[in-house]
Amino acid sequence: MDMLNIALPKGRLGEKVYSMFEKAGFECPSIKENNRKLIFENKELKLRYFWVKPSDVAIYVEHGAADIGVAGKDILLEYEPDVYELLDLKIGKCKMAVAGKKDFSYENQKTVKVATKFKNIAKKYYSGIGKDIDIIHLNGSIEIAPILGLSDVIVDIVETGTTLKENNLTVLEDIIPISARFIANKANFKFKGEQIEKIVNSLKEQVEAAND
Ligand code: PRP
Repeated sequence: MDMLNIALPKGRLGEKVYSMFEKAGFECPSIKENNRKLIFENKELKLRYFWVKPSDVAIYVEHGAADIGVAGKDILLEYEPDVYELLDLKIGKCKMAVAGKKDFSYENQKTVKVATKFKNIAKKYYSGIGKDIDIIHLNGSIEIAPILGLSDVIVDIVETGTTLKENNLTVLEDIIPISARFIANKANFKFKGEQIEKIVNSLKEQVEAAND
């Protein structure tokens, strides 16, 4: 049997994901002992876990460097990687939204300036409602853009809403709910399907139990 390569999103969500995998019988105790190391193996169970930037999980899985992984629906919608999306883990819940100053209005705006990390999601959303936009692509701290007049609105992730509130911004429109998804490489799924199905089935039970 080959090693099963698993890409985990670094951070709090990834730790939650790992504990779900552990519960499914795919444990790798060394992962809890070292917080600088990036790759961990359980040779007996033939598992290899690695921590990657959350937005990179889908890249590892699409290219087959990871057989499976967990990625946010935001990333899957934005980059449309060619992977199987096998399960909604219903954790890491947040939403994609349009936000801006409280008094913002589309009236008298011919072209709306939209700052975002998610330019494809923004383009699709605005073409769906028939509004012309100019995209300003930023890499983070998007909330600053409308405050400094760099953009009219932003398209971004809202989780608790605290970042918007602390910056005197508000949600103007909801675009889509987001949560963490279990993904698999299409080709590798063919010959590691049995192992992968085993994890998916256990995760499915855990998700059902947690959302009863
Ligand atoms: C995300 C998002 C918002 C914030 C929303 O940023 O871009 O800024 O979280 O969370 P809240 O609604 O709970 O306040 P992230 O922390 O990923 O950093 P970023 O600035 O790099 O986008």
